[in-house]
Amino acid sequence: MSSSRVILIALTMVVVTLVTTTKRAEGARAFFVFGDSLVDSGNNNYLPTTARADSPPYGIDYPTHRPTGRFSNGFNLPDLISQHIGSQPTLPYLSPELTGQRLLIGANFASAGIGILNDTGFQFVGILRMFQQFALFQQYQARLSAEVGEARAKSVVNGALVLMTLGGNDFVNNYFLTPVSARSRQFTVPQYCRYLISEYRKILARLYELGARRVLVTGTGPLGCVPAELAMRSRNGECVPELQQAAQIFNPLLVQMIRDLNSQLGSDVFVAVNAFQMNMNFITDPQRFGFVTSKIACCGQGRFNGLGLCTVASNLCPNRDTYAFWDPFHPSERALGFIVRDIFSGTSDMMTPMNLNSLLLQ
Ligand SMILES: *[C@@H]1O[C@H](CO)[C@@H](O)[C@H](O)[C@H]1NC(C)=O
Repeated sequence: MSSSRVILIALTMVVVTLVTTTKRAEGARAFFVFGDSLVDSGNNNYLPTTARADSPPYGIDYPTHRPTGRFSNGFNLPDLISQHIGSQPTLPYLSPELTGQRLLIGANFASAGIGILNDTGFQFVGILRMFQQFALFQQYQARLSAEVGEARAKSVVNGALVLMTLGGNDFVNNYFLTPVSARSRQFTVPQYCRYLISEYRKILARLYELGARRVLVTGTGPLGCVPAELAMRSRNGECVPELQQAAQIFNPLLVQMIRDLNSQLGSDVFVAVNAFQMNMNFITDPQRFGFVTSKIACCGQGRFNGLGLCTVASNLCPNRDTYAFWDPFHPSERALGFIVRDIFSGTSDMMTPMNLNSLLLQ
């Protein structure tokens, strides 16, 4: 082979590679994330709050083995979804690295400790409540327009996948935070659930107004089964009935509200994720999923390692993959992997009205 032919072939390969990678970058779908600690990828690192995951051993299994602000031993739920759709991970909106063309990847606006209601998580002080997350989403859209033009910015937002994870804190960090709370004096549990759903509906309607067209909405997990609640309220490790019942009142109301909203919009914009059942699968039969326990947190102290925070001084399990819960409230990376599998390909009892594979096809 002559050397000029070799150079020509090499050049052609470079050109082909350049064209395909540019295409992929342009074709990749943007991803926007809103909500609480289950999906915060580090916004709280930039805020004056006590709700943070920026010190060891958080991040111990992350590629850098360093804390990032994710409430996980490694990747969190948004990371695993990004990986499945072939996108780079979304940066926290408050990160100074989120500039220029990186805006096209999307952004994460979530903030640990928040809820549907503004009074949820008041004890964490300076966190981004939903109305603030939306104000930042508007600011993001203005910055994206300045970068790529208004028409392209609009199509990026309309074409994006959106994840909304909200509601758990309205129970564990509000209504049930203390034996008697302002909200529990005001409402019975069913009344409170209806109130939450009416406020949640406004939040989702606002998200649609802001341009979201494909939105995953996770219901609350089995709040009574997290190690924190087992430590405080469970006698022998059985899931706490009051919290389980509250989640089982809230979640069907959420599915119904999403059905109503979609039919009002004339399109399946919102998809309800049955996070309760997805978590219960590995909580009720941990061994089937390769976990040694679903009751004891990997990182923590006290009963079930469920008391206080996960810090350098806590007990830490040697192998995070064998624990369903990383800390007193948050699943381990491996447990999240089972949830993500169900989000993409789960049947209609897990994903209503369709799973994420189907949502991404339309
Ligand atoms: C939360 O506060 C914002 C700003 O004050 C307000 O617009 C919004 O309606 C409040 N939400 C609820 C549920 O009270």
